[in-house]
Amino acid sequence: MTEEHTPGSAGDPTNAWDADDYDTDTGFVAAYGESVVDLLDPQPGERVLDLGSGTGHLTAEIADAVGPDGAVVGVDSAPEMVAAARESYPGVEFVHADARALTAADLPVGSVDAVFSNAALHWIPGADQAAVARRVADVLDPGGRFVAELGGTGNVSAIVDATKAPLRERGYDRDPNWYFPTVGEHATVLERTGFEVSMARLFDRPTELDGESGLRDWLDVFGDSLFAGLDEAEREAVVSAVEDRLRDRLYDPGTETWTADYRRLRFRAVRE
Ligand code: BEZ
Repeated sequence: MTEEHTPGSAGDPTNAWDADDYDTDTGFVAAYGESVVDLLDPQPGERVLDLGSGTGHLTAEIADAVGPDGAVVGVDSAPEMVAAARESYPGVEFVHADARALTAADLPVGSVDAVFSNAALHWIPGADQAAVARRVADVLDPGGRFVAELGGTGNVSAIVDATKAPLRERGYDRDPNWYFPTVGEHATVLERTGFEVSMARLFDRPTELDGESGLRDWLDVFGDSLFAGLDEAEREAVVSAVEDRLRDRLYDPGTETWTADYRRLRFRAVRE
């Protein structure tokens, strides 16, 4: 895979994306995101930005909630995701932009009452998180809320460890550059940027990956930073080794289901 952009993401160019694979193999991202929409609690008439809107399913749901008197815009750094979202939801605005450089002038709605983000912030390096928080604060009206979920510390650590080992055996010393913070780390970023964090929670969320190929499909969609530079044969050998290492722990042959060791960090913060 080439190094391009990320969906459901807002700026780090480390993963190549296919909008169809994303929906087919990782439809759980939007399904689980519905409870983050519940935490956002969008109200009729509100203006909302969905940061890292991916294929747009949650953006459209928020658009329904704010109704005709409100306005919603989805922003994503991956042009292929913006294109897919526009095609699926022609009545919703989607903009191609990088979260680290976003301004209200980029948004057809201007400043907003709320910023929402699901499964996107972890694609942006930790060193850039303060810049993102500043951009979010800048597009929010005073008193506006930032409601988001991202991977939390320890997220998919079993999968990462089981992948790094066979890579290392073949001479590749790889670390995925996902940002999976502790509550304290991320709350500090937000507080230093002028947010009051009213809720932050780290929790385990075991995530089922459908079918015998579920784990390899997941690695195919999310794993570019681990596999960059490997040819097809090497990649296949590593993926098979990952499956062998994790089968006893994460695979249920009865239901033909892999379960990924997800941990999520969810927060609600208010711009002071
Ligand atoms: C996610 O988008 O949910 C995700 C991305 C990378 C690693 C783990 C989870």
